[in-house]
Amino acid sequence: MHDRITGRPSAHATLAFYDDQHPPAGDFLADVLDGFSRTPKQLTPIYFYDAKGSAIFDEITALPEYYVTRTELAILDTIGPELAALAGPGAVVIEPGSGSSVKIRKLLNALSEPAAYVGLDISGEHLEAACQEIAADYPALQVGAICADFTQGLDLSHLPLESGRRIIFFPGSTIGNFEPNGAHALLAGFRRAMRPGDAVLIGADRVKDPATLVAAYADAQGVTARFNLNLVERINRELGGTIDAGALSHEAVWNPDFNRIEMHLRADADQQFDVAGRTFQLREGESIHTENSHKFTPDSFTSLAKSVGFDVLHTWSDEAELFSLHWLEPSAKA
Ligand SMILES: C[S@@+](CC[C@H](N)C(=O)[O-])C[C@H]1O[C@@H](n2cnc3c(N)ncnc32)[C@H](O)[C@@H]1O
Repeated sequence: MHDRITGRPSAHATLAFYDDQHPPAGDFLADVLDGFSRTPKQLTPIYFYDAKGSAIFDEITALPEYYVTRTELAILDTIGPELAALAGPGAVVIEPGSGSSVKIRKLLNALSEPAAYVGLDISGEHLEAACQEIAADYPALQVGAICADFTQGLDLSHLPLESGRRIIFFPGSTIGNFEPNGAHALLAGFRRAMRPGDAVLIGADRVKDPATLVAAYADAQGVTARFNLNLVERINRELGGTIDAGALSHEAVWNPDFNRIEMHLRADADQQFDVAGRTFQLREGESIHTENSHKFTPDSFTSLAKSVGFDVLHTWSDEAELFSLHWLEPSAKA
């Protein structure tokens, strides 16, 4: 096992491979300075997931208000036999943005003798630990990890794996974090990496009553608030920022014009802060826009998929129609 770039033997002994594609790390500062220079101020959600942010996200998934994870898990339980039939034996499952790799267990347990699992995440430390746990728990499975930025397309050309049917598993409604153009570009990147017969299994959160949506992103225990505030605390920790996080309030609002929940950090009072020698002002009531979570109807999701050259062959939902999973295959016409 060797690092693809340095050629040195890697220490990731329990994984079939660890491919470090060295996603650029230096952009954090540039992106923060750019975001704080805009009106309104904004930050890129990709930076939520340092070790602390990933751990808080795991707490969010267990919150009573956060229906997303438990609903998606329940749908996966229900549709296991259908997924096994669709994927066939010996499937290779690739999970972009694998995080703590919890949902994947449902899929792996459902499939018939899957051949391999490949976790892909921008957060290398978290990725390696999560994939090693999968490798330990599924000894018959080849498990690999790719440290990469999935917005840059998927480079799967060199996977040292048996070539079964590849399933790209993209749960959690991560697709909803992208603006429509970005969601299109992301799915197009997946599409380009696919061979005939490959498929995408993707989770997408649904448009529903705003009160349920807002509660899911502004929980009573304040866990999502901690998650949101960790972003500015990370700027203070890693970029020497001087933001007074204690004078910012977490806010989740439903924006019906774009069918999305927006997360903001709103200033309780005027403050001035520095990041890497640059000074910024926040006025009382001004917000830093930190995340969008777009919601879909079956029709709006289908038109997104079609615009990229996918057919939506199956859509599964829970009874209350809170969340959907979709099975996409490259369209024969594309
Ligand atoms: C919300 S977690 C999802 C975890 C898991 N897939 C699930 O649904 O339970 C999102 C994960 O995506 C990763 N991520 C976010 N942006 C990414 C990017 N551009 N490239 C690769 N990974 C990314 C984060 O590091 C994080 O681990």
